[in-house]
Amino acid sequence: MRLRTLGLAGGLAAAGVAVVLGGLYAWTRPAPFPAADAPPAPPAPAILAAGARVVALGDCMVCHTNGAGPAYAGGLPLRTPFGTIYSTNITPDPETGIGRWTLAAFRRALREGVARDGHLLYPAFPYIHYTRMSDRDIELAYQYLMTRAPVKVRQPDNELVFPLNFRPLLAAWNVLYLRPGDATIPAQQATPLARGRYLVDTLGHCASCHSGLTLAGGERSPAFHGGSIDGWDAPDLTRLAAGPVPWRERELVDYLRGGLSLAHGAAKGPMRPVTERLAEVPRADVEAMAAYLMSIQEPAPAAAAATPVRPPSAAGARLFAAACAGCHTDAAPMMRLAARPALARSSALQSASPANFIQAVQQGIPWNQPASHVYMPPFRDVLTDAQVAELADYVRTGLAGKPAWRDVAAASAKARKESEQ
Ligand code: HEC
Ligand code: HEC
Ligand code: HEC
Repeated sequence: MRLRTLGLAGGLAAAGVAVVLGGLYAWTRPAPFPAADAPPAPPAPAILAAGARVVALGDCMVCHTNGAGPAYAGGLPLRTPFGTIYSTNITPDPETGIGRWTLAAFRRALREGVARDGHLLYPAFPYIHYTRMSDRDIELAYQYLMTRAPVKVRQPDNELVFPLNFRPLLAAWNVLYLRPGDATIPAQQATPLARGRYLVDTLGHCASCHSGLTLAGGERSPAFHGGSIDGWDAPDLTRLAAGPVPWRERELVDYLRGGLSLAHGAAKGPMRPVTERLAEVPRADVEAMAAYLMSIQEPAPAAAAATPVRPPSAAGARLFAAACAGCHTDAAPMMRLAARPALARSSALQSASPANFIQAVQQGIPWNQPASHVYMPPFRDVLTDAQVAELADYVRTGLAGKPAWRDVAAASAKARKESEQ
């Protein structure tokens, strides 16, 4: 995974003001918390189940697990133009994990982005959102993590160039972007809408991908107007109801919980692990999120003058028939296997940008046990960039009936290069 937050923090490093604040910080470094004498007593099963729910809603496993490696042991490399940062081991191993962290130290990490020994954490860890977690949810997450299997593994040191490897600079970033949370927030808000807002804004940290970034690597406000992550577009979440194929609340629940909306397509790329975790939480939580998302919808922007749609090229149609139609036409055997979305209406084809089409074709959709019919092979090594462009032309104009995207071959080459790094 590429780390956008840090990449753009390069802009921040350049700012002289940051250096001054960083220097000041060196004298005011947060105090270390003493090591816990003993691990906390094992909690009751009901507490563990509630903790599992918080950790799933907060997506902690996604970043703190490296591929098929042990859960929560960290080591996932987050690549940036300035080097690589590795997620930490948050299993309760006393030496290499958080086994000697007290609840107070854990709470400070989530609320302020400060490690137990007092060093500042990189905002790749979305503490600017977790800071508003309720005390109760922080405690539940702590109890759940402290009962995971301890894994003894020291993760590699970050490989960052100067001055980004100088953590005190993060004090300046925090002045700009951290609004420390209020410990009095209740975990279970009174109405589904308030609960949904808490789950989307705080625990789910949805804005960390769905908002654009400022030059200093902070999230743009107002939130949710669309961002990009690892070469994928994370769509605008305030125009879901006003997009070319409007979303309804029920479809959002299907998509967020099952990774598939019959009206809009599958969750792919960085969104897929989010939906896999949401599949584990009570349906009511996802319904609350969907209700909140529907409440932040904005009207469609004034329509631009219609661009004429030209007929697709024959080359694209031939490629589609050869490589894709076996799964993507109504007659395809796979289409009849289970209820399937129509490719023409998918967000990937309706979007003004070809980014998610290119990523979907290059990377495919990994096979996954519970939803084994949602599988698409990667075509990265099968199709050239010129062929991806021909296919894009066919699906966009021929299937979706929209004006062709531009410069697809160049964008495909760029996506290929980035994913090989
Ligand atoms: C988007 C990725 C991401 C998500 C999601 C995430 N983390 Fe992290 N977390 C990180 C990274 C990266 C670091 C290391 C930052 C650093 O070294 O400066 C980190 C550090 C931490 C630390 C400090 C550990 C130490 O040894 O210093 C704790 C505690 C932690 N995360 C807990 C959590 C919990 C609990 C959740 C879920 C509620 C969570 N994280 C979700 C990326 C993430
Ligand atoms: C083995 C079957 C298979 C083949 C072959 C295949 N796909 Fe897919 N594709 C899928 C499945 C399954 C999905 C997930 C959505 C669904 O169920 O239709 C998907 C999704 C997509 C999406 C994203 C749409 C969405 O649901 O969000 C695009 C774009 C796409 N395919 C394009 C292609 C193109 C172009 C080709 C040919 C180069 C191709 N596919 C070949 C099975 C396949
Ligand atoms: C790690 C980055 C990331 C996070 C975190 C994330 N998303 Fe996404 N999201 C994406 C990407 C990328 C896409 C486009 C994927 C696709 O089309 O298959 C997407 C797609 C979506 C879509 C479909 C939009 C459309 O027009 O097709 C919805 C709805 C959505 N996300 C909601 C959420 C919610 C709610 C959360 C928080 C619980 C969230 N996302 C968290 C990256 C993310």
